[in-house]
Parts: sequence; structure tokens; C-alpha cells
Amino acid sequence: MPRLGEKHAIVTGAASGIGAATVRQFVDEGARVVIADVNDDAGRGLADALGSELVRYIHCDVANPAEIEALIAESQRWFESMSGVLNVLVNNAGIGGGGEVPDVDPALWSRVMDVDLNAVFHACRFAIPIMRAADGGSIVNTASISGLGGDWGMASYNAAKAGVINLSRTMALDHGKDGIRVNALCPGYIDTPLTAGLGSDVAFLEKMSAGVALGRPGTPEEMAQVITFLASDEASYVTGAAVVADGGRTAHTGQPNMPAVAQRLWND
Ligand SMILES: NC(=O)c1ccc[n+]([C@@H]2O[C@H](COP(=O)([O-])OP(=O)(O)OC[C@H]3O[C@@H](n4cnc5c(N)ncnc54)[C@H](O)[C@@H]3O)[C@@H](O)[C@H]2O)c1
Repeated sequence: MPRLGEKHAIVTGAASGIGAATVRQFVDEGARVVIADVNDDAGRGLADALGSELVRYIHCDVANPAEIEALIAESQRWFESMSGVLNVLVNNAGIGGGGEVPDVDPALWSRVMDVDLNAVFHACRFAIPIMRAADGGSIVNTASISGLGGDWGMASYNAAKAGVINLSRTMALDHGKDGIRVNALCPGYIDTPLTAGLGSDVAFLEKMSAGVALGRPGTPEEMAQVITFLASDEASYVTGAAVVADGGRTAHTGQPNMPAVAQRLWND
């Protein structure tokens, strides 16, 4: 039995990286999926590759609440034409945002908040009444380990992703009674187009991987595995969770490798 058989899903930021891998896995697991993105070429390309029976591409700039409302309404019409309903919403679209607070352009700050945080609010605002009427659903919000702690020089991103995690927890509390589960995925460093510029720098990659227990970046497919689990009925008792999938990046205290440091001192 496919894990998402007879489920109908919307994935935002679905034309690339973690979102595209999620769409592929959802389809493999039996779901019908709306691919929502602003990258029309990549979104349509993915839809063409997977076939119109299983997926549909809808252009949606998640920074625009009216476009989110139209996305959910149009998706729901397609699902209803198959005697279905919106069961799964994956709020995955996201952009980076660097800078220390005094240097951050307020326009960039607002843009990061709109795409990374406000879009989650708006999509849930339109999706929850549909799921409530259908006696349940699953919402997965792609946050980040950058929402669990601070990073140097990423003020807007850290703030937005922290907001996504706590918004997810609050919605889990409010809508558990409606049968709606809400979880946040917190990826670590994942090899996607978002990080491609950094990943091609060997020195940077070595330094990033050195702090990861598994010693390497994650893949979009590994994130899609977690999202698929959270979306499925296998996760029927999982809600309000910030699920960390970071190869062990946040498992340590942040202190230096003390045995290695001590060894060096003894050897000097
Ligand atoms: N790659 C990582 O290391 C990493 C780590 C932690 C969290 N994340 C989060 O994972 C999510 C997916 O990132 P990714 O690494 O797959 O990046 P990606 O750049 O490969 O994919 C992001 C997708 O979002 C789309 N998008 C951007 N702005 C949009 C908008 N306004 N409306 C609709 N779609 C929009 C892009 O077109 C793209 O298809 C993001 O929320 C990101 O913050 C990524």
C-alpha cells in the first residue's frame, strides 16, 4: 500500500531542491500533487516529466497572499474533480537573507519575512478551514536549524525560520482537535541550488562538513523522506514537532573537539 495513497497535496517551492524531491517522492507514494512555484520553466518541466494525471503546476508567488488564496482554491477544484480534498500542505518555498541588523536593507528584511514566514501564515489561513471540514490533514513547514539558534550574519533568515517553528507549534495546539497535524522540518546544510554557490567552494564544504556528525551535506531526497513520513498516516501521533534532519550538526554543544585540542597541547 503506498504511504500517501489517495492523498492530495500542495508543495510550495516545488520546482527545485527539497521541494522537487518531495514532489517526486509524494508521487511515488501514490499522492496527487500541485507543484507551486515562481520558476515556471522548472515547475512546468517537472510537471511534464511526471504527467498531468498525477501532478499539476500552478504559478504562485507565496509573497502575495492573493496568489496563495488562488493556489489553494484552484488546487482544491482539481482535487474535487478527482473526488478528493486537500490532505497535505507543504510550505517549503524559501529564500536566504544575509546581513547583520544595522546593515540589512529593510526591503530585504520584509521580503524574507514575506516569503519565509508570512507565506506560511497565509497558506495555513486558507488551507486549515478546508482540512477542518474534511476532518483532518497534515501540514509540514520547512523551517531550518537556523530557526533553532543563531547564526552569524543571517538575522532575517534566523528570525523568519524561528517564527516558522513556533507558528507550527501553535497551529498544532490549536488544530489538534480538528485532526490537523502541523510539524516543522529543520534541515541542516543540504546540497540544493540554494546552497550551490557555497557547496562548490571546497574549503567551505570541508569546514561545513567538519561540524556534521555524518561528515557531509544532506541531499534533497533525504529531506523528502522526512517530509513524506510527516505527511503520511505513519506520523499519526506526531504533531507540534520541530524535526531536525541535519546529519548531527546540532548534536554537539558548540565547544571545540576537546580530546583533539588536548592531544595537540600534549604533543606541543
Ligand atoms: N538547502 C539548505 O541547506 C536548507 C537548509 C535549511 C532549510 N532550507 C529550506 O528549505 C526550503 C527549500 O530550499 P532548497 O534548499 O530546496 O532551495 P531551492 O532554491 O532549491 O528551492 C527553493 C524553491 O522555492 C522557490 N521560491 C522562491 N521564492 C518563491 C516565492 N516567492 N514563491 C514561490 N516559490 C518561491 C524557488 O523558485 C525554488 O524553486 C527553503 O525554505 C529553505 O529555507 C534549506
